[in-house]
Amino acid sequence: MQKNISVLAGDGIGPEITTATVKVLKSVNQHFNHALTPTVGLVGGDAYDRYGVHLPEETIALAEKSDAILFGAVGGPVNQPDNPRFKNVEKNVILALRQRFDLFANLRPLKILPIAAAASPLKKKIINGLDILIVRELVSGIYFGPRRQYEENGERVAEDTNRYKAGEIERILRVGFKAAAGRRRKATVVDKANVLETSRLWRSVTEAVKKDFSEVAVEYMYIDNAAMQLVRAPANFDVIITENMFGDILSDLGGAVVGSIGLLPSASLNGRNFGLYEPIHGSAPDIAGKNIANPTAQIFSLALMLRHTFGLEREAEAVEKAVSAAWAKGLKTKDLAAPGEPWLGTKEFGQAVADLI
Ligand code: IPM
Ligand code: MG
Repeated sequence: MQKNISVLAGDGIGPEITTATVKVLKSVNQHFNHALTPTVGLVGGDAYDRYGVHLPEETIALAEKSDAILFGAVGGPVNQPDNPRFKNVEKNVILALRQRFDLFANLRPLKILPIAAAASPLKKKIINGLDILIVRELVSGIYFGPRRQYEENGERVAEDTNRYKAGEIERILRVGFKAAAGRRRKATVVDKANVLETSRLWRSVTEAVKKDFSEVAVEYMYIDNAAMQLVRAPANFDVIITENMFGDILSDLGGAVVGSIGLLPSASLNGRNFGLYEPIHGSAPDIAGKNIANPTAQIFSLALMLRHTFGLEREAEAVEKAVSAAWAKGLKTKDLAAPGEPWLGTKEFGQAVADLI
């Protein structure tokens, strides 16, 4: 298969984990005879230095010509909120790319990885069997509704608007129900229908769309209860489908539950299977440039790309299995090594996984 991948490494540990992942990609090309060709584009601080903006037109043009985006991370140290290299960079890059490419379907799989299970704050018997897919609507809702700040009777007021169109709800539900049909056939639509009008529209659209997926058991759950159930009995969930803001919150909570936010990948897809693939974790500036970051979430994101955009299931599994094989051989990065245990650098771990494809 011949395809183009734009590689947007970004800030902090982004370049290191991305370089390690591109090694794995090249190994996939070699072993499966593909030409999935990476081309680097600038986003974040480096883009700002060179072009004066965080997401230059050059980078957008590169992404438009490609079949998928492999994205690292953006963002600077928290103690430099006014540094123009990083000011509003998440909004300028991540939210802008999501909107520009209409990446409405955010898939965040949560699984228990044996290597991280001990890091879960929950009891073993509670996380046992946990396998959840969070399907988060990503280009609408309160993230993108009208917002403003103004003055009223001498007092400052701010507004963010949560707004959904029926069509936006329908398309994310279809992605979620289809995924559920290929899994354990259960979908939980998470909302706040006891309060919010948008949630009532979600429910009314759900009632219509679920008729096309009669094999899937659909249930509703309020967001506050869903947060509780995710901690109390997470193994009961299969697919969670929810709006932008609730999905943001639940996915961090879910990351903590599986003890491995640093290992979790994500896919953000549009209606043509074009996708942006990125780790859930951020740019971790405190450990950047030291060759100690764990590239696994980014490597797993590559696997999601192979699966969802290119339909290369065998190759995706080869990547995931290579990571497990590395761990099984005792090869691990610093974050996963016990005190005193030997560990590999970012580069070396990427190479080890590449060699195990
Ligand atoms: C995420 C992040 C982003 C979001 C931020 C960086 C804008 O938290 O991808 O979950 O809120 O969507
Ligand atoms: Mg988030």
